[in-house]
Amino acid sequence: MSERTTGEVVLAARNVAKSYGQVHALKGVNFDIHRGQVTTLFGENGAGKSTLMKILSGVIQPTTGQIVLDGQPVAFANANDARDRGISIIHQELSLAPNMSVRDNIFMGREIKGATGVDYAEEERQVRVLMEELEEEIDPLTPVEDLRLGQQQIVEIARALSVDSRILIMDEPTSALSASEVEVLFKVIRDLTARGVSIVYISHHLEEALTITDHAVVLRDGNMTAYAPRSEIDLDWIVRNMVGDNYDLGSPPETTVGNVALSIRNLSVPDMTGKDLVDGLNLDLRAGEIVCIYGLMGAGRTELLETVAGRLSASAGEIVLEGREISHLTIGDRIARGLALVPEDRQRDGLVQTMSVGQNLSLASIGRFTRGLFTSRRDERQLIDDSIRQVTVKTAGGHAPIGSLSGGNQQKVVIGKILATQPRVIMLDEPSRGIDIGAKAEVFRLLAEGARQGLAVIYSTSEVSECLSIAHRIIVMHKGRISAEFDSSVSKEKIMAASGESVAA
Ligand SMILES: Nc1ncnc2c1ncn2[C@@H]1O[C@H](COP(=O)(O)OP(=O)(O)OP(=O)(O)O)[C@@H](O)[C@H]1O
Ligand SMILES: [Mg+2]
Repeated sequence: MSERTTGEVVLAARNVAKSYGQVHALKGVNFDIHRGQVTTLFGENGAGKSTLMKILSGVIQPTTGQIVLDGQPVAFANANDARDRGISIIHQELSLAPNMSVRDNIFMGREIKGATGVDYAEEERQVRVLMEELEEEIDPLTPVEDLRLGQQQIVEIARALSVDSRILIMDEPTSALSASEVEVLFKVIRDLTARGVSIVYISHHLEEALTITDHAVVLRDGNMTAYAPRSEIDLDWIVRNMVGDNYDLGSPPETTVGNVALSIRNLSVPDMTGKDLVDGLNLDLRAGEIVCIYGLMGAGRTELLETVAGRLSASAGEIVLEGREISHLTIGDRIARGLALVPEDRQRDGLVQTMSVGQNLSLASIGRFTRGLFTSRRDERQLIDDSIRQVTVKTAGGHAPIGSLSGGNQQKVVIGKILATQPRVIMLDEPSRGIDIGAKAEVFRLLAEGARQGLAVIYSTSEVSECLSIAHRIIVMHKGRISAEFDSSVSKEKIMAASGESVAA
């Protein structure tokens, strides 16, 4: 108990429960936030982490139970109300207006007023200070949609920091950040806690999260199942309490490698200014083979995969799928030929938010159920049920709206949807981001099974350990080129060194 009392309790949930119809997202949780400490919340997808945080930050109201702030019961009318009392939240799903500037996003709804209206110059100055603190070169006037995903996440973080909160809730803030950006964020977190700010942190990146954790809390099925200070826990403790078991992500599957399924030849992809993001890249991928592309954010991995999928245009080179040049084909035609991409920004690119879980799952494979003019409802339902089971989506059923799923479960739907198209070549761009360790093991199992049946897989990741447990071959990308290639017996350090990453002790 000693560590529990080091920092006084500033905010607490008392018997807080939240139900959505029949779904009991939280079942009477007691949770304390201590002054000047980092409390990290672990749990599987759908465990109730975001729900609890939304309640503490006034975004939603509990069905029963109470919030206690500085010893006094409070009821927040909305997020602004909570923010006025010093509680801010960085949401798991980005909530920025894409066509507005960084500055306007940060000050939206609380503009700085000068003598003659909004004081844009002062706003701009403050954004520059924040960006400096976050060591990010982002111009305040850039429209958010021109930033890469990780930078958009930085803008979210900057917005929360600009409020000067006592309690800052971060729901998976690092999912799209590079290793060095994470380091900067952690430095900022340490500065904040030193000044007495309390942080609540949520992440599926367990090892990373442990490095800043003072207290770990595990949620499971809407209950708080474990609570301990950092000194008493390790990775095993977290996983055991999260899922009741230990997961081994295993080693690359044994498969028979077949013919070249995908051949990328001299491919170049320019950015808006004409600079090459992918620079004359060559890569052959064989049937039954799992190739991991490792690299830092900005190495050109996403641009490479999106160009092969037909979302971006190349300035030079060829893309050959099973012997046929496909550069001229539309995205849809490439999918029809068996080439599929699980995109990086799944929230925006992968899902139709107004549709149900089932509709989203079957959308891409609709051709398979069409006989003449009619779709076979039974086949479609079968596919939906299979997909939900395969990728372990936690949902009330296929009819549930996609927005009712937890963040990680929405991502699993995207992966399930793509697998259901029965591709011959599948490209996954950071697929494990935001999904829990059990689901990650499940995705690995599905890919291994696919490879045994001849599926060719490109798996892009910024986690070295993932490469080592899934890939037959590891390609390192650096500045748009392949900087090294290894088989699966390589060491972690060698891979990181080839990516241009400084390998710390
Ligand atoms: N608006 C909603 N309507 C119906 N059910 C909901 C809604 N929001 C959340 N849920 C359900 O509540 C449960 C908890 O969801 P929550 O988003 O809190 O999970 P989480 O722990 O944050 O998961 P993840 O790691 O995937 O982000 C899930 O079963 C989810 O489907
Ligand atoms: Mg969540």
